[in-house]
Amino acid sequence: MSTLRYSRALIAGATVLRNVARQQARPGCRASIGRRSVSLAATARQQAEVKEANKGSRTVASATKDIETLHVQFTDGSSSEMPYVWLRDNCQCDQCFSDGALGRKLLMQDIDVDVHAVGVKESAGGVTLDWSDGHKSAFDGEWLHERAFSPTARARRRNQFAFAKEPWGADHTMAEYDYNTLMKDDKVLLDWLITMEKKGSAMVKNAPDRDIAGPELIEHIAYVKPSHYGPHSPVINRPNSNNVAFTNAKLGMHNDLAQYEHMPGIIFIHCVKQHIGTGGESVVSDGLFAAEILRKTNPEAFNILTSTDAYFWDKGHANYSWEMPEFYKISRHPILTLNSNKEVCRVSVNNAVRDSYLDLPAHRVKEFYAAMKLYNDILYDNSLSFKMDTGDMMTLDNVRCLHGREGYEAFSERHIESSYLDWDEARCRRRRLQEEFGVADLK
Ligand code: OGA
Ligand code: ZN
Ligand code: ZN
Repeated sequence: MSTLRYSRALIAGATVLRNVARQQARPGCRASIGRRSVSLAATARQQAEVKEANKGSRTVASATKDIETLHVQFTDGSSSEMPYVWLRDNCQCDQCFSDGALGRKLLMQDIDVDVHAVGVKESAGGVTLDWSDGHKSAFDGEWLHERAFSPTARARRRNQFAFAKEPWGADHTMAEYDYNTLMKDDKVLLDWLITMEKKGSAMVKNAPDRDIAGPELIEHIAYVKPSHYGPHSPVINRPNSNNVAFTNAKLGMHNDLAQYEHMPGIIFIHCVKQHIGTGGESVVSDGLFAAEILRKTNPEAFNILTSTDAYFWDKGHANYSWEMPEFYKISRHPILTLNSNKEVCRVSVNNAVRDSYLDLPAHRVKEFYAAMKLYNDILYDNSLSFKMDTGDMMTLDNVRCLHGREGYEAFSERHIESSYLDWDEARCRRRRLQEEFGVADLK
């Protein structure tokens, strides 16, 4: 199949899936499906009451000019320094901001970083400013309060962006969700989304006996993240397999698609049919938990894993019509990626696709292996082992939690299906559901 036909087939497949998901979507929320949605309802009520009580109490009490900032005192007793350049950049007037598109029209080239207020007036709980560049801005009090530079206000936005991850070890029990309930009840879906952000792991039970049950659930949430293996992968012992995962071999704990620069966010591992007898057992570990142990117990090894780039690669031909006919991926990143706060934000372990090329001087190779092996040992020391039942669908944060499986007999009917959802889409759905259920400030 040509690349063009391949991409058309993929898009057509995705459209079918989306339509299926739409037909099943939003049948209305049932009043209560159990403990979780009851607590969500209570939280929604509580937050509505707090909002009502706070009405009018988060406006501007006074605003005074300083050299570089406006000092704002709010009516709830809190205060914040608000830098002039930031205020000018965020002017909400028609000329500077599009209300329809919710986007800034003001260009960086037109910002004077030394801009300052020449006149300040408190008005209707907000503030109006006359600027040194001749412009005029009016700010709403609540709008300013939400964007205060105080630790509390900043933490609120941080939570909206992403919930804090809660690392777990071998005593962890994965939360369970029912497949059909996730498809029907958005309160339960919200609960699953939050669990995935915090714990990076959950087990979905009673998935239907369909190879596209994973993509159908993903399309109910947002969009499938496809790869050169298509929108989903049959993990079976394939003849002429194009990936070690699609054989009966034991798979060490790994993250999927480490050969991608943009690794998929959430993996859905659907057990369509489990192997009968010994073999095919799963092992799962929290890469974040293991990384923090490594950071504490062997900072040198931790430093090697966060500062050494590895290549990951994948080259081959399609086994199925929905796969890319010829693929050749190379990615380059460390085993542990740190964000600007030095937190581990991506774990990338995959022994099958880790490349034999190493962009390192020879004398640094052995220490790199020693660090990888040490991390692998910690992962296994703190892992969960179990065997998925037919109909189980394990969902994992693929840039945090690792999974592996025991080998099994070559002639097994074992059938796993894997598919992916990106974090951008999952968090996007979570924020909209929080708004829908009036629980925007969940922690
Ligand atoms: C994979 C994989 C898990 C399993 O295909 O990448 O991890 O249980 N499969 O077969
Ligand atoms: Zn303006
Ligand atoms: Zn895998």
